[in-house]
Amino acid sequence: MKISVSYLKSPYNKEETIKMIENTSADYLHVDLKDGLFVDENNFTWEEMWPLLNKVKKPLDIHLMTLDVEHHIKNARVLNPEYITFQFEAAKYVKDCIDLVKSSGIKCGIAISPETLVEEIEPYLKKIDLVLVLGVHPGKGGQKFIKETVEKLIELKSLKKDYNFSIEVDGGINEKTVSLVSDTADIIVSGSYICESENFEKSIQILKSKA
Ligand code: DX5
Ligand code: ZN
Repeated sequence: MKISVSYLKSPYNKEETIKMIENTSADYLHVDLKDGLFVDENNFTWEEMWPLLNKVKKPLDIHLMTLDVEHHIKNARVLNPEYITFQFEAAKYVKDCIDLVKSSGIKCGIAISPETLVEEIEPYLKKIDLVLVLGVHPGKGGQKFIKETVEKLIELKSLKKDYNFSIEVDGGINEKTVSLVSDTADIIVSGSYICESENFEKSIQILKSKA
């Protein structure tokens, strides 16, 4: 099980939080980008993110919670991230978005909100590298894990045998909920549980021990 840490909800500013995550054993930096259209709040401009993320040594796991998916993929790919994941519900032409990510040699993920069923993304599973299952409604850190998410993860794990994708769960993961997802998810995103704790590394180790 790999750990991807989101800086979205933290008592420190973006730059400080990212620096603190860099000093842990986390496998990825999870970058949550909100455009004020797909979700309420706008939390980035590319002019701000490029210099900030260019310096990061950990592999980037970019999660676009935006409309205009193609535009944001083009801006995200210059950072050469490990993954670019977009919201299925936001994409008009899902296949074109996948091709745009893959043609840059970057792994492509599709994220599904709590109300989206696994069967809706089934036609695309053969083409992608990651399915991000949101355990909360997209937009805010610190929400409560929606338990029905576990069924989706089980469904995806059984489908996975015939494909090549990894499963990521994002939202509401803490020392209590991690055991619900650790059998099925390959990558666990955790935000506020880690960034609001006194010691980021210690919290990562607790998550691993309870998995
Ligand atoms: C939810 C975001 C998550 C969020 C996770 O909209 O996509 O990545 O930051 O934060 P926690 O772990 O606090 O739910
Ligand atoms: Zn996210």
